[in-house]
Amino acid sequence: KSTLSRHLSGERVIIVANREPYIHQRAADGGIQVSHPASGLVTALEPVMRACSGVWVAHGSGSADRETADAHGRIRVPPGEQSYTLRRVWLSKEEEQGYYYGFANEGLWPLCHIADTRPLFRAEDWRHYREVNRRFADAVCEEVEGEDPVILVQDYHFALAPRMIRERLPRATIITFWHIPWPNSERFGICPWRVELLEGMLGASILGFHTQAHCNNFLDAVDRFMEARLDREQNAVVHRKRQSLVRPYPISIEWPSQWAQATPPTRECRASVLAELGLPPDTLLGVGVDRLDYTKGIEERLQAVERTLERAPHLRGRLTFVQLAAPSRTVIERYRQLNASVEVLAERINQRFGTGNYRPIILLRAHHEPLSVFRYYRAADFCYVSSLHDGMNLVAKEFIAAREDEQGVLVLSHFTGAARELTEALIVNPYDLEEASAAILAAVEMPREEQAARMRSLRAFVAEFNVYRWAGRMLVDAARLRQRDRLNVRLP
Ligand code: F6P
Repeated sequence: KSTLSRHLSGERVIIVANREPYIHQRAADGGIQVSHPASGLVTALEPVMRACSGVWVAHGSGSADRETADAHGRIRVPPGEQSYTLRRVWLSKEEEQGYYYGFANEGLWPLCHIADTRPLFRAEDWRHYREVNRRFADAVCEEVEGEDPVILVQDYHFALAPRMIRERLPRATIITFWHIPWPNSERFGICPWRVELLEGMLGASILGFHTQAHCNNFLDAVDRFMEARLDREQNAVVHRKRQSLVRPYPISIEWPSQWAQATPPTRECRASVLAELGLPPDTLLGVGVDRLDYTKGIEERLQAVERTLERAPHLRGRLTFVQLAAPSRTVIERYRQLNASVEVLAERINQRFGTGNYRPIILLRAHHEPLSVFRYYRAADFCYVSSLHDGMNLVAKEFIAAREDEQGVLVLSHFTGAARELTEALIVNPYDLEEASAAILAAVEMPREEQAARMRSLRAFVAEFNVYRWAGRMLVDAARLRQRDRLNVRLP
């Protein structure tokens, strides 16, 4: 955190991200409730914003968002602390449909994730995507003070914004971070607006991805679809006489975690969670925490629990898996289908192995605030993250942050960015139910000393490579670029 503050001294950072960190809702009793969205992006970036000053430009999505902001859509957050400004941009129903549900989430999301959902590209959605990128770029430019601001453009919602901002602010340092995977160029090439997307992104000074493999995929796409000079050694692209660095910056979480600090000790969490769920004290409890999204492998996860119960009859009646599933993007048909099929599957497994009060799967389909999620992390014997494809996956890192007791086992999909870092987890292929169920068995049978050894090592890793380090590394690279620009180094 102190390294970050050093690099940011005197800097006012502007973040643009679709999701806002605080959502104001009108509650049933007429009062206003503030909630934290289920978003890895928010989990990572909110502590960074609290550590520096500046503005977060986002889509105002809560029912009481307008009345809590001023005439320009600005409000100081976090509530009570007020360390930075949240600037809300309001979208019409059509804009939200075309830009967010349509192009971003029915087009780019399945395009970038290998999860067998076909991307849909509609000209109307693209038109809204372009217009909304323009509106956010305008809002960013209104918040800028000085000629060379530092602007962090977040995620696949804003591939066009870097170029739009660059045209208005040629001296800005624009850092774009892509929070999801970047596909290989065959796959990327099916997008009808592939060149426009790449052009837009190359307005950034630095393009960040979670892994070197995603950087390589991006460079391949530029190579294949654009007239640009590639410097593979430097991981850079020169386009329109400007250089964009393309670098891996694996994202992380705040350390120490504010939520872990505010959560009661393990024993209390375990007692209260088991009591709430009506489970006996000798329960072996697994937990999954996700948005209800088809990339998260929730069906494969429940099937792995089913396979475990088939293989290990002695666990029937004892092993319970609780899935916290936050409803997400429910306007989209594919998400509604998933919602229905997860329910049917959980019911089927419960019918098959349930007896008396015992149900092996507890599906809690609701938004859970971070403090509630951390109670479940602490109560659990293991956490299973089974994404079919995931840029990083911060649930894995949050589970580790919660386990100050150095107990609990992380079972982690090989197809997450996190699996490259968290090597002391039990790494599995979530499609392989034999392997996944063997890992669940190993998790519930693992001796306490082995759990402690693995967890200690995982905690040391996340403590060191925390989100301040992530932001710090990007800002150090940005500072070097700014210095170079000031010295006026010419590009060939
Ligand atoms: O991390 C990827 C991401 O799409 C973020 O951009 C987003 O905030 C999060 O997942 C949750 O999705 P959504 O904002 O669409 O609810």
